[in-house]
Amino acid sequence: MDKIAVITSGGDAPGMNACIRAIVNTAWQDDVEVVGFRHGFRGIAQDLAQPLHPDDMRLVSQRGGTFLKSSRYPEFREVSSAQQAARVLDSHGISALIVIGGDGSFRGAAHLQAHWQGQVIGIPGTIDNDIAGTDTTIGFSTAVDTAMDAIDKVRETAEAMARVFLIEVMGRHAGFIGLHAAIAGAAEAMLLPELEPQPKLADMADNILRAREAFPDSSYIVVVAENLWPGGVHELGNNLSKATGVTCHPCPLGHIQRGGRPNAQDRILAMQLGAAAVSAILEGKRTIMIGLEQEHVVEVPLHLTFARDKPLDQRLVQLQLGLQGVNLASKSA
Ligand code: F6P
Repeated sequence: MDKIAVITSGGDAPGMNACIRAIVNTAWQDDVEVVGFRHGFRGIAQDLAQPLHPDDMRLVSQRGGTFLKSSRYPEFREVSSAQQAARVLDSHGISALIVIGGDGSFRGAAHLQAHWQGQVIGIPGTIDNDIAGTDTTIGFSTAVDTAMDAIDKVRETAEAMARVFLIEVMGRHAGFIGLHAAIAGAAEAMLLPELEPQPKLADMADNILRAREAFPDSSYIVVVAENLWPGGVHELGNNLSKATGVTCHPCPLGHIQRGGRPNAQDRILAMQLGAAAVSAILEGKRTIMIGLEQEHVVEVPLHLTFARDKPLDQRLVQLQLGLQGVNLASKSA
């Protein structure tokens, strides 16, 4: 019987468990055994192997997180770590490894491939959606839902008290969660790393004051991407409060965006990509990512996926910017 391995690596994302289920069940149909390594690349280097059987996969799809565990493992940049992982994989008789993770994990996967003769296949699993070559990543849709729910809740108290809130969302260095959450949450403004030019503090303050003049009894919500404003939303809140004379409440959403049951879209995506990864292995493919573009499963050379150069959909950016403009202008027209 052939044997393949799977890890979940880097920041966990809702839908990773569904993906593991698809891999295990698809492989078993083809008489291929699957071994998981706990805690990602660290688990390979330390030989934390866990046999995976379809019987154990029945109730995992609906759970968030990853039952295989994950970790960040910067030590894997060392050649010696990749060589150690290769030795462990060989000692188990493993012929292929599926890495479910984000850009850092794909860099690790490419590094391992340079030191191991087996097949390495990536599946995009990150809430950030910052992987090129795929329209979306496992966990992104659920994270946007979670951010939207949180914005809706903040909106109710903000509206009741006619307050300004700055809601910080995750995304590391990308604005995908921010853009989608801003649209879904009908935010009055958004601050994302990709916006050109970046809004200035004085303009943001001016917009808040104009909105308060037009709608003195209403809420005003700004969605702010993390790692953008020095000092985060707390500092931005201080600066804007000083500039406007209106208290601007910081509200970082943090790791709640990583948790929760995966939504239907993420489960379906996870299962499509997991099953396709096993098929790709059986066809002898290597050093690729399995992604989804325009509803179709695609295979993308791994090295093209992790440059952090995936652009936002400009139509969505313009849509949100246009709606924000109307928010400000409607009463003054
Ligand atoms: O990559 C997913 C992500 O949640 C990013 O959005 C965030 O910047 C980062 O992970 C946080 O990482 P950690 O949980 O290791 O602090």
